[in-house]
Amino acid sequence: MDESSNTRRDVEQSSMTRRRTAIVHADEENIIILDETKQNETKQTLEIPTTAREHTKTKTVNFGTPEIYEISPNTPNLLYAIDNNVDNHHKVYYSNSLSNIEIPSPNSSTSSDETHILVEDDYNISLDLSKIIRTHEKQIEEHSMKKTGSSYSIRKMNSKDSAKTPTETLVDVVKKLVSPTKGSFRKSDVVSYSEIYLDQFQDWKNEKHETGAIISWRNICYQVKRETSFLNDIISKSLKKEGDSKMEKPSKFIQILNGIDGIAYPGSILAIMAPSGAGKTSLLNILAGQTKCTSGEIIINGMVVKNRLKSLVGYVYQDDLLMGNLTVRETLRYSAMLKLPSTTSYQEKMKKVDYVLQLLKLEKCADTLIGEVGLSKGISGGERKRLGIAIALLTNPPILILDEPSTSLDSKTALDVVQTISHVAKTHNITVIMTIHQPRSDILDYLDNLLLLASGKIAYFGSTSKVVKYFKKIGFAMNDNYNPADFVMDMITEDSHAIFAHEKTHESEMERINKIVDSFEKIKQQIIPSVHDTFELRECTLPKVEKSTWWTQFLVMFLRSFLNQYRDFKFTKIRVIQQIIYAILVGFIYFQTKNDQNSVQNKLGLLFFVVTNQWSNSFGTPISIFRGERLYFLRERGAKCFSISSYYFGKFFADMLLIIPHPVFFGTIVYLLAGLTLTIDRFLMFILIILVLSQAAHSFGMVLAILVRRVEIATMLLPPISTTFHVFSGFYRNIDQIPVYLAWFTYFSPFNYGFKALIVNEFGGRTIDCPTDQDESCPYPNLDFILDYYGMNNGLMNTWVNLGIVLGISVGMRIIAYIALKFTLKPRKGV
Ligand SMILES: Nc1ncnc2c1ncn2[C@@H]1O[C@H](COP(=O)(O)OP(=O)(O)OP(=O)(O)O)[C@@H](O)[C@H]1O
Ligand SMILES: [Mg+2]
Repeated sequence: MDESSNTRRDVEQSSMTRRRTAIVHADEENIIILDETKQNETKQTLEIPTTAREHTKTKTVNFGTPEIYEISPNTPNLLYAIDNNVDNHHKVYYSNSLSNIEIPSPNSSTSSDETHILVEDDYNISLDLSKIIRTHEKQIEEHSMKKTGSSYSIRKMNSKDSAKTPTETLVDVVKKLVSPTKGSFRKSDVVSYSEIYLDQFQDWKNEKHETGAIISWRNICYQVKRETSFLNDIISKSLKKEGDSKMEKPSKFIQILNGIDGIAYPGSILAIMAPSGAGKTSLLNILAGQTKCTSGEIIINGMVVKNRLKSLVGYVYQDDLLMGNLTVRETLRYSAMLKLPSTTSYQEKMKKVDYVLQLLKLEKCADTLIGEVGLSKGISGGERKRLGIAIALLTNPPILILDEPSTSLDSKTALDVVQTISHVAKTHNITVIMTIHQPRSDILDYLDNLLLLASGKIAYFGSTSKVVKYFKKIGFAMNDNYNPADFVMDMITEDSHAIFAHEKTHESEMERINKIVDSFEKIKQQIIPSVHDTFELRECTLPKVEKSTWWTQFLVMFLRSFLNQYRDFKFTKIRVIQQIIYAILVGFIYFQTKNDQNSVQNKLGLLFFVVTNQWSNSFGTPISIFRGERLYFLRERGAKCFSISSYYFGKFFADMLLIIPHPVFFGTIVYLLAGLTLTIDRFLMFILIILVLSQAAHSFGMVLAILVRRVEIATMLLPPISTTFHVFSGFYRNIDQIPVYLAWFTYFSPFNYGFKALIVNEFGGRTIDCPTDQDESCPYPNLDFILDYYGMNNGLMNTWVNLGIVLGISVGMRIIAYIALKFTLKPRKGV
């Protein structure tokens, strides 16, 4: 677009007298006028270009002088008007770009019979004067500006300035404002926002948009509490005691983001670039509604949004969290069932899955297992990233936020992913915000706008195509052979020795960064406030978020958890094989035990081994399984994908089914090989008891997995808990001989009841053969004697009762696990 022809026009108008009058700024609130003469009353009409006129309001401005200008400001597009004296003609200039006033460089040559202000792109320095006036009102008054009503005028204020024209006076004022110490007005001191202006703003305002979301954010600040350790505190306190009074106490908070503004448009990509640790992810977390900022606000389509943010944003995390044992299609299906509303039919959901598969070019690998990086083979890195985007797109979010979608990909794949994102943004009018690390120059072409951060502040915000020009303006020209992406990163990175070899100290590096940040700070005020100020509140056409039903959530949780574990070799096949080997070994050790007095001890030993084996086989399992699922749970809970109960019951039934084969295989082999009492009812009861025992162990493990966040600590707690239950089982120490103050613990030991249930099942209701030789003793003729001997004859002689107690303990632990899941496992900041 030829800006000079489209945005400026001059209107020559006749006049009877020489005048020096200029409207330098006009919007609905303020008119800034340069006025030297006010002799004749004239009425001048300034014509506004037709494109601008469509949304203007006519406004008559009477600035208390004989001249009455009837202007039609295309707020805030009438930026500049001046009349001058050229052969009794007035020339009026105006611009419909967002910059508000353009002032010539003192160097620009003007001849006396030409206009004294030239509008030339490359030489003029632009300022938003109205903002400067607001900010520096006092200073301006001190110099030479006067405010009358809602108008400002510049006059010859004192005799010293009398030789100067108002324009020169204005230039002087600006000089002092922008560069008070240098005394000279340098081009690089101020850059007009028009030069880095986000072109989409005009497009958006001019077109009628049915869909899409403009998201803008203002003055975002974010600080986190500094983690201190007890030891550090003691060290710093003792150092202080030694009298190092100069040593500053570190602040309790770390300021990560400091006054970040920005805006992103539908159908375009805003890329956030910054060195590692500069706060990119923190900013994205805030924009996605995952983290609350310390201060600032986020506005979507003119409305401040708080709670709705999460539902309007599709967020693709830096670390793609995918279940390795599901295929691409299954992953999308479960996500669709979980995230799409109950009003969408199953067929429609599946259609949507097929659509995103096609959109993200995932059809080829749709039925491939995702795999786990470094552990099992699966889809490629680029496909993983595209799958993450596909999941986020399932719900048609108007805003898509991606944290480093191209990181850890080779440059060709990274380009491919960014091209896909750009295509999706443009074809679906989605507002994309993403962070990116050192992109190659052809990736830069797909990034419409750029937000550079340095030291927690904005280093640049504007069109990507103008960033190099901008840096040149503020004194950092790029060598022709440099990659612009590398160049801008070097600009904002502290140790950029390749480009700034002369910077020997950290101070000199910081000086550069401060200069960049300060330069932007000067024009920052023009960006977001002007967008917000002029933004008409529009009916928010954003989708209403509906949820899937409880049963759908339950089904998804059940199927997903079941499939993911079932296909996991180490959790299913290896454990079953391990159990079979154990069973054969133990079965042969106790091979075909007889029904005589000598075998009672052996059988008791065998039954106790069965209890401990089933316990240890299931106790630790939830810890390793939940380790992988914890983050899923937190993210999905954060995104409100399911209710806690649907998750819990879905997972509970999946786990329950998956641990059934172990006791069944183990129990059958042991039972038959060891020659336990072979009747169908005793056999089935034996299997049932060890099944319930392993469920109880799993329940205890679940509580531990939920309550103890660190897996190593949870794993460390397994042996002491198991040992305690062992000790109070009655096998090692007769229960009636355990000291009274400890004996109560036996009531909580599932081992105690499980072991007793197995004993009753094996020996109950029948006699044990006594030796035929009368001289030999017969200590255990029946069950009563066995239980007496072990101090377990406390009346609970029924297998069902003991089994019921184990089941009760298991259910109790499940309830505790549910409560722990609901109340202790909540999404933390930016998980
Ligand atoms: N909760 C927190 N507690 C302490 N420090 C934090 C916390 N969250 C973020 N930080 C710190 O804030 C800084 C910014 O973190 P952030 O993850 O946003 O950086 P980033 O720009 O995304 O980095 P990268 O490019 O490496 O992903 C880092 O120094 C990080 O250590
Ligand atoms: Mg990050």
